[in-house]
Amino acid sequence: MTPTILVTGAQGFIGRYLVRALCDRGNCQVVGVGRSPGNETHFTHTIHPGGDECAAPLPNCLVPEGPNYAYVATDLSDAAATARLIEERAPDIVFHLAGSLRNEPFDRLVTNNIVATRHLCDALAGRGAVIVLGSSGSIYGELGGGGLPLVETGATEPIDLYAATKRTSEDIVRIASRAGRIDGRVARVFNVVGPGQEERHIAGRIASQLTELMVGRRNAMALGPLTAWRDLIDVRDVADALVAIGFTASGDVFYNVASGRETQIAAVYDLLIAAAGIGNPPLIQLPGRAVDMARQVVDVGRLRALGWEPRVGLRQSLGDVMHYYLDLIAKA
Ligand SMILES: NC(=O)c1ccc[n+]([C@@H]2O[C@H](COP(=O)([O-])OP(=O)(O)OC[C@H]3O[C@@H](n4cnc5c(N)ncnc54)[C@H](OP(=O)(O)O)[C@@H]3O)[C@@H](O)[C@H]2O)c1
Repeated sequence: MTPTILVTGAQGFIGRYLVRALCDRGNCQVVGVGRSPGNETHFTHTIHPGGDECAAPLPNCLVPEGPNYAYVATDLSDAAATARLIEERAPDIVFHLAGSLRNEPFDRLVTNNIVATRHLCDALAGRGAVIVLGSSGSIYGELGGGGLPLVETGATEPIDLYAATKRTSEDIVRIASRAGRIDGRVARVFNVVGPGQEERHIAGRIASQLTELMVGRRNAMALGPLTAWRDLIDVRDVADALVAIGFTASGDVFYNVASGRETQIAAVYDLLIAAAGIGNPPLIQLPGRAVDMARQVVDVGRLRALGWEPRVGLRQSLGDVMHYYLDLIAKA
């Protein structure tokens, strides 16, 4: 029988790319879930290319989703609605990407990251389905700088409330899994880069500011310190990694989803400026976060053991982000 794959957060940034990867893979029925109505043209977030706010349009590579895709609007913070959804759709694999991101109010982080995950795990209990939770590499925290490289068996020490709620959502999946109620797997996703990305993420923020500069809406870039080292992974490689984790039973619960390469944010800045094709702009240095992680070096051995390899290099990935923003100001 054709398996049914449920993707929560399907109209979000990573969700859209995962739906594309699953539809392209074929031989499965894909059901997308989110709260907002079904939408074939835009992500759920807004962006500000050239300084004007707009709903972020889907890059061409993401449309159309295809005949093996359907979307259902369901709020996963509603336990009864979540139970109904799982009963009706009877998924074989659930990719759980719905949630709230860093900087959102605490009550939303709790509701959408913790409560929604609990409802989903309860609804799936005893059904034999696989659930892959989209968690975050930020749950490792700073670890006093002594925990590198970051391995799945190492300690975690979230440095903010977003990461704390993501770690709690991991605990919910781990506890239900160890109790034999679900087949839970956790994807700890690091810094994602890709076209459509919003300005909350560093590459989207730099690309967006560069478009403001190019249309004369700002005179200088204004960014926090560019000194941190991060592991950046293309969103298409994240989608492939999630598919590998969901479709391969290895017995492990936790997986780092990263490129395995360390890059300084200053290099990200330089590559985006080169992709924009402009000279070095003036840069105003803003204060950084009160507590931040200086370096993230990630071990991706577990993910590679599933047969996953990154396909998109950082230069191409950042170039695609910049051209996404440039196309939008050209159209405007
Ligand atoms: N992007 C990154 O760099 C990154 C890095 C590490 C980890 N992650 C994790 O990966 C996941 C996906 O990230 P993303 O960047 O794709 O986020 P996103 O664009 O904000 O997508 C999340 C989606 O979740 C849906 N959602 C939120 N609350 C919901 C609820 N109660 N019920 C149903 N749907 C709900 C939202 O759609 P509606 O508004 O339609 O409900 C939204 O489209 C998140 O869990 C995030 O923590 C992301």
